[in-house]
Amino acid sequence: MTKKSINPFRPGAGHSPPYLAGRDDEKADFAKLLKQTIVMDNPIVTGLRGVGKTVLLEELKQIAINSGWYWIGTDMSETASLTEDNLATRLMADLAVVTSHFVVGRKEAITSWFHPVNVGADLTLGHDLLLEIYNRAPGLVTDKLKAVLELVAKVLAKENRGLIFAYDEAQNLSDHAKDKQFPLSVLLDVFQSLQRKEHRFLLTLVGLPTLFPKLVEARTSAERMFHVITLDRLNDDDARDAITRPIHKNSGPLQPNESLVTSIIEASGGYPYFIQFICREVYDVASQKAEKGEPLTVSIPDITRKLDADFFAGRWAKVTDRQRDLLWVIAQVENYGVDFSVLEIVALASQLVKKKRLISGFSSSLANQMLTKLSRLGFVYKTQHGRYSFAVPLLGQFIRRQVR
Ligand SMILES: Nc1ncnc2c1ncn2[C@@H]1O[C@H](COP(=O)(O)OP(=O)(O)OP(=O)(O)O)[C@@H](O)[C@H]1O
Ligand SMILES: [Mg+2]
Repeated sequence: MTKKSINPFRPGAGHSPPYLAGRDDEKADFAKLLKQTIVMDNPIVTGLRGVGKTVLLEELKQIAINSGWYWIGTDMSETASLTEDNLATRLMADLAVVTSHFVVGRKEAITSWFHPVNVGADLTLGHDLLLEIYNRAPGLVTDKLKAVLELVAKVLAKENRGLIFAYDEAQNLSDHAKDKQFPLSVLLDVFQSLQRKEHRFLLTLVGLPTLFPKLVEARTSAERMFHVITLDRLNDDDARDAITRPIHKNSGPLQPNESLVTSIIEASGGYPYFIQFICREVYDVASQKAEKGEPLTVSIPDITRKLDADFFAGRWAKVTDRQRDLLWVIAQVENYGVDFSVLEIVALASQLVKKKRLISGFSSSLANQMLTKLSRLGFVYKTQHGRYSFAVPLLGQFIRRQVR
């Protein structure tokens, strides 16, 4: 019996792949933004679920640190974006990790509103001090945050370094007009104002395709403030690397075989999560066959069924029959893999009714209403051009596989 080898593939949110394929253009794009002397363009990394945003962010972090930037960041939770105060708390907690070793002379720390008690000594910018400055600074949350960050900027200027705030899941950022809380606008205002004063803070936001339109909706000036880096499926060469490099390195049971690689590329659509998922399954099958001394045979349809059960079925279970009808109609639109309009859906639905393939059609207003609901459920999103796209990769193909 052969020794059991460890499966190298890692399908899972934020799990580093055994080989991170492609993404050279995106990394170069980001590296260019680090070279700005006066920060005017802030990177946004956006793309569908599972396309590889989080693991790329880890790489970008290394690039930034190697270029001498300080880096702080976490996931932006909905709670952090509930109120302006929560956002400020989030930013200062993150900031303190880097600044707690920053020393500020007492002269720098003394302003008209902030007189440190211990006037003889230098101060370190730990969390307590950041919070104290925040609390004592006059004005609104925006003013208070600016006061804190301007003091930090003084140290950064002396060190001739910049600082990056990087937030993943940034589509969670929102203003809440109903509660008179505008954390998203506060964030944008603070960075815009600091950057205008030529302080070297860079804001990096990572999230689903809804992120950028959301920022622009909060502040039209956001359009000029950000540089959008869109992650797409891997091209065939990169997908091939993602599949074969980990097994080349590995002397395990699975060896690259052209027809198998081609069918994995096809079944995954080049989407990184699906590549990892399918490869892990194939690898397990290969291990089991090798243990029994059997030749390797892989059934992609079996693996696809497992993917349907593990990845799509949970989502599918959340929608009503009528919503399923609508999604099914969408998956029959010619360009369903790219985008679609309400008009197209409504027209196609009435044709399908005539052909007796659908019981009843949809009016424009009903379709609109249902799409809003479905975008809240994470199935579709509205593109910048007022059309809609599926928010989950290969969702259209999954829907077409479902027996009605
Ligand atoms: N360039 C790549 N090459 C190979 N595998 C990759 C690549 N990028 C991502 N992956 C794999 O794809 C999966 C999803 O990656 P990740 O969690 O970074 O996606 P995401 O876009 O952040 O997803 P979500 O929208 O759910 O946050 C992980 O299993 C990861 O290992
Ligand atoms: Mg992620």
